[in-house]
Amino acid sequence: MSDLQHIRVEWDDELALVYIDRLDKLNALNAEVIQELGQVFRELRDDDQVRGVILTGSGEKAFVAGADIGELAKMTPMSGVGVSRDGQRIFAEIERYPKPVLAAVGGYALGGGCELALACHLRIASENAKFGLPEVSLGIIPGYGGTLRLARIIGLGRAVEMTLTGATVDAAKAEHIGLVSQVLPREALIEGAKTFMRGITKNGPLAVRAALESIYFALDSPGPDAMSFESALFGLLASTEDMKEGMTAFLEKRSANFKGR
Ligand code: COA
Repeated sequence: MSDLQHIRVEWDDELALVYIDRLDKLNALNAEVIQELGQVFRELRDDDQVRGVILTGSGEKAFVAGADIGELAKMTPMSGVGVSRDGQRIFAEIERYPKPVLAAVGGYALGGGCELALACHLRIASENAKFGLPEVSLGIIPGYGGTLRLARIIGLGRAVEMTLTGATVDAAKAEHIGLVSQVLPREALIEGAKTFMRGITKNGPLAVRAALESIYFALDSPGPDAMSFESALFGLLASTEDMKEGMTAFLEKRSANFKGR
């Protein structure tokens, strides 16, 4: 992995663990962190050994405490558009990633940190996690796709409430409203994240990728186009060794050994 100041990557077999590592600022996202995040995700995308990515924050206290307010305070109208677009572009790359991405939220996920978790395909949290979009308390709005993604994930009413009040939501409530799939003690978060992901990576990687592509394509496409795309991917998978292996394994009452071919 090339030179990185604020991101650390660990590997555990087929999983890559990406740590945002800016402890003194509770992992707040400055321009450098955002760029490095894009770089790391691009490099892991091209690594065939990696079948899933867990994104988390360093330290016990925060996933990411937001965009860097020191930087935001200096923005002009035009640079503000640029800041928002840069973040949106990299978060969209994460959302459209061809491998599953799980946010393991161990502490604060506020503002841009909450939006980053929303851009991931899946989220789990520690018991001390706190989610929120406090931007309106700073006189701005979420600018990294949060005004779209939160409503898609938890529904319009709750999303409007969270965005307009800026109030934080604890882990139990986050699970209740469908913002996270699971809540674990802080010390069990990373192992739990790996177990969670292995429930996905044991499946055919080409099928997992096609499922992600179909689901996210449907978000921005008219229904008939999305259905056609789903059919095309469904048919395409019939050409794979993985499909043969998955069905043969079922018929032979054994677990499948997928090769991603
Ligand atoms: N941007 C820049 N710096 C941040 C930051 C952010 N979003 N969030 C935290 N920090 C910095 C603090 O300024 C502090 O730096 P310092 O030690 O140089 O003063 C350091 O991280 C530790 O934060 P601190 O506020 O002392 O920790 P805390 O435990 O008292 O409070 C929070 C934690 C998360 C409640 C508080 O830091 C906070 O409200 N952060 C901003 C959250 C926010 O509004 N995010 C949305 C931004 S769009």
